[in-house]
Amino acid sequence: MSRKILIVDDETSMREFLSILLGREGYAVESAADAASALMLLGEHSFDLIISDVKMPGLDGIELLKRVKLSWPDTAVLMITAYTTAGDAVEAMKLGAYDYIAKPFKVEELKLLVSNALEKLDLKKENVRLRKEVRDRFGGFVGKSRGMRELYGLIEKVAASGSSVLIVGESGTGKELAARALHEHSPRKEKPFVAVNCGAIPDTLIESELFGHKRGAFTGAIADKPGLFEQAERGTLFLDEIGEIPLLLQAKLLRVLQEKEFRRVGGSESLKADVRIVAATNRDLEEQIKEGTFREDLFYRLNVIMLRMPPLRERSEDILPLIEHFFRKYTGKEPSGPAATPEALKVIISYPFPGNVRELENMVERCTVLGEPVLDRDSLPAQMLNFSRRAEIQGAVDLPEEGLALEAYLDAIEKRYLTLALQRCNGVKTRAAALLGLTFRSFRYRLAKFGMDDE
Ligand SMILES: Nc1ncnc2c1ncn2[C@@H]1O[C@H](COP(=O)(O)OP(=O)(O)OP(=O)(O)O)[C@@H](O)[C@H]1O
Ligand SMILES: [Mg+2]
Repeated sequence: MSRKILIVDDETSMREFLSILLGREGYAVESAADAASALMLLGEHSFDLIISDVKMPGLDGIELLKRVKLSWPDTAVLMITAYTTAGDAVEAMKLGAYDYIAKPFKVEELKLLVSNALEKLDLKKENVRLRKEVRDRFGGFVGKSRGMRELYGLIEKVAASGSSVLIVGESGTGKELAARALHEHSPRKEKPFVAVNCGAIPDTLIESELFGHKRGAFTGAIADKPGLFEQAERGTLFLDEIGEIPLLLQAKLLRVLQEKEFRRVGGSESLKADVRIVAATNRDLEEQIKEGTFREDLFYRLNVIMLRMPPLRERSEDILPLIEHFFRKYTGKEPSGPAATPEALKVIISYPFPGNVRELENMVERCTVLGEPVLDRDSLPAQMLNFSRRAEIQGAVDLPEEGLALEAYLDAIEKRYLTLALQRCNGVKTRAAALLGLTFRSFRYRLAKFGMDDE
């Protein structure tokens, strides 16, 4: 988008000269012969830069500058002064002009001033954006829906305590991000954050992973090895997929949490465990307790505080900021315009996102890999489009009070689709069949059923 410049000068030749000069530089230039018409133009649309003469009949340039600074503080103003009136220049600078240039000036000098003014404007905007982004973000999270804001508040509050936290939520809702945010906001933040996925370690190895082992404790234990509890000393240990740990180890873990001490496998020495435990699961632990696969006492020990991650479908206002965030993440650039077309957004927002933020992230990543600058309806994954179509059908279909002759109704719909497909394909049946996802045989059979086969 080219930058907009407004030139204000009562001298026609100067207006024309500047318009041509800056127009050639690629700027979108408009001009006004006096301050009053300049203000009118400013009321219509915004400008990045105003270049104004000081001496003008009616409202002079200084007065215009004052009004611009009041009503359009984001617009830069460059004043043109005469050599004889140095006082004007001083006053203009005091009032917030970006700079001034004295007549007569060199063309190169003016071009440079203009491009510097615009560059400074970009920097200012970028700073504002960054500050806003920091305000809208918490830890690695993007999103300011009510559910997320409540979560941020809770994380801040409980981070300070050393209590165990259980994070629950569907897959891809940001449980690991929450665990990291807890650590980052805690007094332990300078110490290690150690994450372990309990579901990914074979049952036989979990104990030694967590607590370490002594040399010779079991075959393959060729040297003493510290466990994750020791690695996370004075920091945070994140036990991801806690629902996956075997019952036997649940008992050992419970003991460590109660006594704040543990032993390496094969060791006799008790070691102190000064570790903050954060656990996460996308399984229903209460259900597991009923089934007998998770210890109730461990559940209560871990669940001193519970953080519930809101699913993405409950906070659709976070979707667009997340899309923009992931576009930035994968392209390393600011999106040049809206990151999704309205058509695409409509489909995305009505989609229930079983994979939550991770699913959305994968979708944007795929789009950037394909080099698409915005999410369009066509760039959406098939399952999303199919869902949207099913939803449209559900919205469109209703059972009337008095009931419905289903067979006749479905026949009518089928017939209508056959006709539409034939029309669109100029009567070419093989193409019409393909358009409806039918084999040629099946298509012909349906035509015959409605007596449409010889049309
Ligand atoms: N609110 C958010 N803002 C920005 N990125 C997010 C947000 N929530 C999740 N993500 C990103 O989505 C991805 C999945 O998040 P994370 O791994 O924390 O989810 P999870 O709940 O642990 O999922 P799982 O249950 O599958 O392990 C990560 O890349 C993460 O950075
Ligand atoms: Mg996870």
